This record gives sequence, C-alpha cells and structure tokens, in this order.
Amino acid sequence: MGTWAWGESGEIGNGYFGSHLTRPDLEEVAHKAHAAGFTLWDTALVYGMGRSETALGEVLRRYARSDYQLSTKFNPRIAGTSDDPVADMMEQSLANLGTDYIDLYWIHNPADVPRWTPHLIPLLKSGKVKHIGVSNHNLSEIKLADQILGDAGFRVEAIQNHYSLLYRSSEHAGILDYCRNQGIAFFAYMVLEQGALTGRYGPENPMPQGSRRAEIYNGMLAQLKALTDKLDSIGQSQGTAASAVATAWAIAKGTTPIIGVTKPHHVDGLVQARSITLTNDDIAELEALADAANVNTRGFWEQEM
Ligand SMILES: NC(=O)c1ccc[n+]([C@@H]2O[C@H](COP(=O)([O-])OP(=O)(O)OC[C@H]3O[C@@H](n4cnc5c(N)ncnc54)[C@H](OP(=O)(O)O)[C@@H]3O)[C@@H](O)[C@H]2O)c1
Repeated sequence: MGTWAWGESGEIGNGYFGSHLTRPDLEEVAHKAHAAGFTLWDTALVYGMGRSETALGEVLRRYARSDYQLSTKFNPRIAGTSDDPVADMMEQSLANLGTDYIDLYWIHNPADVPRWTPHLIPLLKSGKVKHIGVSNHNLSEIKLADQILGDAGFRVEAIQNHYSLLYRSSEHAGILDYCRNQGIAFFAYMVLEQGALTGRYGPENPMPQGSRRAEIYNGMLAQLKALTDKLDSIGQSQGTAASAVATAWAIAKGTTPIIGVTKPHHVDGLVQARSITLTNDDIAELEALADAANVNTRGFWEQEM
C-alpha cells in the first residue's frame, strides 16, 4: 500500500497529486486494507517532508504494531552533515510514524552507494531495522550494495523501482531476472502511472489542474486511450476495472505492486487484481499497445537503468 499522496502539502492531500483526501477516508482505506490482508505500508521521509509518515502513523495507531509492517526510506539527497545522517533520518521516521522499528528500510536513490550503504549495518544490528531494500538502483548498484551488506552478513532483500506497462526499464535491464534468480522481492511502484492507467482519466477528464501529475500525464492521455480501453475491456470481461487489470499485469510479471491508495474503493481493486487471470496473449497485447503509445514516463528522480 503506497502513501506518497497522503501528506504532501501540509494538509492531507497535496499539490503533487491534487487529490482531496480526508482522514475518515484514509481510516477507511486502512480498515479495508487490513481486513483484506494488505498490511505492508510504504512511505518515505521525503513524501511531504514527513507528512505522509505522520498521517500514516496516526491512521495505523489503532492497530497492534505486530499487525502491520512499515516500509520507509533514507534519502541521500537530503542527508545532513552529522556523523550519521542515515541514523538521524531514521530516527525522524520513527518519531513521525510513532514506532521504534522499521520493518523494511530503503536507500531511496543510488546517490553514492559505497558511502551510504555501510550506514545500514548498525541499524540492522540494533534491530531498529529488520530488512533492507534499495530503490531506483541499477543492476550494478544493486550488486554493489548487496556486496557491502554481504561482507557484514546481511543482504539486499528487496528492490523498489518504477515498473508499469509504460515503463519496463527494470525488465529490459535484467533486474527482474536477477531478482527472480537471487530470491529478492521486486516491488513495482507507479504501476498505475499515478492514475493514468486506471481509465479514470482521459482527454475529456484530465488529472486535477495545477497538480504536478497533471503536468506530466495530461498531455499523453490521448495517446494512452487504446491501452486504457483494452485494460477496461479485459476488466469488464472479468467483472472488474482497468486499474485492477494493470495491477494484475504487474503481478503476472512476478512483481509485488505498491499501489498508491487514496480512496477506500481502491482496496477493492487490489483484492480483485489478485484473482484476475491474464493469458500470454493478453499480456503481449497490452505490452504492444503500451509500446505503441510511445510515451516516456520516467520520473524526474529516476536514472536510465
Ligand atoms: N521509491 C520511489 O522512488 C517511489 C516513487 C514513486 C512512488 N513510490 C511508492 O509507490 C507508491 C505508488 O506510486 P504512486 O502513488 O505515485 O502512483 P500509482 O500507484 O501509480 O497511482 C496512484 C493513483 O492511482 C489512483 N488509484 C489507485 N488505486 C486505484 C483504483 N483501484 N482504481 C482507480 N484509481 C486508483 C489514485 O488516483 P486518484 O487519487 O486520482 O484517485 C492514486 O493516487 C507511492 O505511493 C509510493 O509509496 C516510490
């Protein structure tokens, strides 16, 4: 369950997504998610500079800590100048989330792998961090981080990269195969391209004006229509929606999707995605339509893989 959109502007809801989120809605999202067995929550200190973590921590407070898992991230780009900026940033995350340990802690980007990766080792040893992942790293950076942790008896246990029908760089770069062979979990983010692959948005019904995602995606919605129509028609044939089919595609490719959930009914889409069957022909047709759309959705924070 992804929560970038949960706190970007200081209010619940934000200028990046332009969504109007309410506390009752987010509580209902958490309630439905937990009832459906979705208990791993992804956030980051940089999502609203602590506000996503804080909103998430408040919403989860009514559950026992052992009933959910927290995934958050150290970001080298905002590292301070203290002796141990990683430990400092993690302490901020712990305070925001109202917890004393993080289940899955990530290095958010590969700014300087040899410099930052060793800082994770004491956090693992102390038990404040249970598992380590790396995000937005290419294959050689993943291997380097794994080697640094391996020398101390730990390993990279998860990868988190942008992966959607429209953005398959991790597949083309061999990262998916590497993860499969090494038994590393691959978490796919922006599987729905921030709403562009849900079928909800189109040229007639663009993303919220003034939001950052509108700037990025509204100009390409017409090119995506053939793809979203196909997602929709597969969805209709299986009694579900385009968003669930796009999610099912990511599952069929062997990844674990992290879906940004902003409304209670989004959880229903996730439940449905688990039971959708896509044939090899469906997958090939969806990928061909995605390629034909010829759009580049690489995030401004992402490197070529
Ligand atoms: N490591 C990284 O660098 C990185 C980068 C980006 C994201 N992430 C993580 O990945 C998560 C997912 O990415 P994201 O939130 O940016 O984008 P996303 O999952 O591709 O799209 C989320 C948007 O899709 C819509 N949506 C979600 N479920 C839906 C459903 N069932 N039916 C219809 N619409 C649905 C919502 O839009 P509306 O609000 O308009 O309804 C929501 O805001 C983030 O929250 C974050 O945890 C990590």
